[in-house]
Amino acid sequence: MQTIGITVLAISSITGLLALLLSIANKTIANYGEKKITINKDKELIVDGGDTLLSALMEQKVFIPSACGGKGSCGYCKVTVIEGGGQFLPTELGYVTPEERADGVRLSCQLKVREDIQIQIPAELLSVQQFEYHVEFLKDVTPSIKHLRLSLPEDEEIDFKAGQYIQLLAPKYKGNDEEVYRAYSIASSPLDPKAVELYIGYVKDGVATTYVHNYLKEGQKITVVGPYGDFYYQEGDREMVMVAIGTGMAPIMSILKYMHSKKIDRKVTFYFGARTREDLFEMETLEALQKDMPNLRVVTCLSKPTESCHWDGEKGRVTDMLKKFLENAEDKEAYLCGSPVMIDSVTPLLIEKGMPAERIYFDKFE
Ligand SMILES: Cc1cc2nc3c(=O)[nH]c(=O)nc-3n(C[C@H](O)[C@H](O)[C@H](O)COP(=O)(O)OP(=O)(O)OC[C@H]3O[C@@H](n4cnc5c(N)ncnc54)[C@H](O)[C@@H]3O)c2cc1C
Ligand code: FES
Repeated sequence: MQTIGITVLAISSITGLLALLLSIANKTIANYGEKKITINKDKELIVDGGDTLLSALMEQKVFIPSACGGKGSCGYCKVTVIEGGGQFLPTELGYVTPEERADGVRLSCQLKVREDIQIQIPAELLSVQQFEYHVEFLKDVTPSIKHLRLSLPEDEEIDFKAGQYIQLLAPKYKGNDEEVYRAYSIASSPLDPKAVELYIGYVKDGVATTYVHNYLKEGQKITVVGPYGDFYYQEGDREMVMVAIGTGMAPIMSILKYMHSKKIDRKVTFYFGARTREDLFEMETLEALQKDMPNLRVVTCLSKPTESCHWDGEKGRVTDMLKKFLENAEDKEAYLCGSPVMIDSVTPLLIEKGMPAERIYFDKFE
């Protein structure tokens, strides 16, 4: 018994000593001093070396998209490195194609600023802003989806395009010891610039969704950066095919509300899928839009209706609905939003029906 006690004590002491040495090493050996980041051959920032490029830029209020919050699992944080940046890392491999790599494209959440770096980013990212919203309302629209409306102070507005997304900062809370950013599509119209509405689905053990579903309350403040994204309403008069499942309805709702306010009368068919009746939401809003927009048709389908759903509407997945109803896709354009699995199954179907790939716009919620 005494021997076990001594062994445990020895292991704890060694672990403690190693932790202390690591912390000293971080403060001394890994002290890279000040480094310069030059953006688009124009803007110069002086940052403390050693951090990731993504964090260093964020610290200086340059907000690169980072839908996975810097975990290296979304590929949204790409920047072109012209000079500096060190070796390409194995963690970047899955998201940077060989062609992009040859052009210097890197994941900014993976590379560390250990020397001066020159980068190139789309100019519009320099106008992405940080906002402090307050939660005007937060309500359940299904057992697992919350509808939030976040409002800005009197003198502020956000300028975005219908279909774009913002990143919300989930702060530390009991059980989560780091702040994380996650992407959420804006469901409200850009003609309502004092607020953003969001639909946020609960993900078991998810850091941000647990915060929103279990901790965030009406009246609280919340930090948001944005807007971001190249998925947005395309001007023109082509017929539109919209497909969404679950919270994927958010950017589609933004586009429909925008078209409604602008009295844009293009022909639109919106295919919306859910599992059961209780997973459907905003049906009244869609009905009201349909009444006002004679060229809008909403096809709602349930993939797993049960007896208790009393559902006599369309049954099946959104792909089944497209097979059933979509004809002559050659001259149309599509907006797809939701899980990667749904988008990866709808895209080839649209192409098979004649839609050119470059007219299929999508946002994968990954
Ligand atoms: C451009 C873009 C727009 C988005 N818009 C929306 C939106 O409008 N509404 C919305 O609810 N979400 C949206 N998302 C997804 C959102 O950004 C988060 O990924 C999601 O809310 C999970 O975050 P989390 O921090 O709770 O989970 P994490 O802590 O990141 O994940 C916890 C675990 O759950 C897994 N996981 C993550 N997401 C899912 C999921 N959906 N289903 C099952 N498992 C999952 C992860 O792989 C991980 O293992 C969007 C994503 C992108 C890229
Ligand atoms: S932030 Fe997601 S891969 Fe870099």
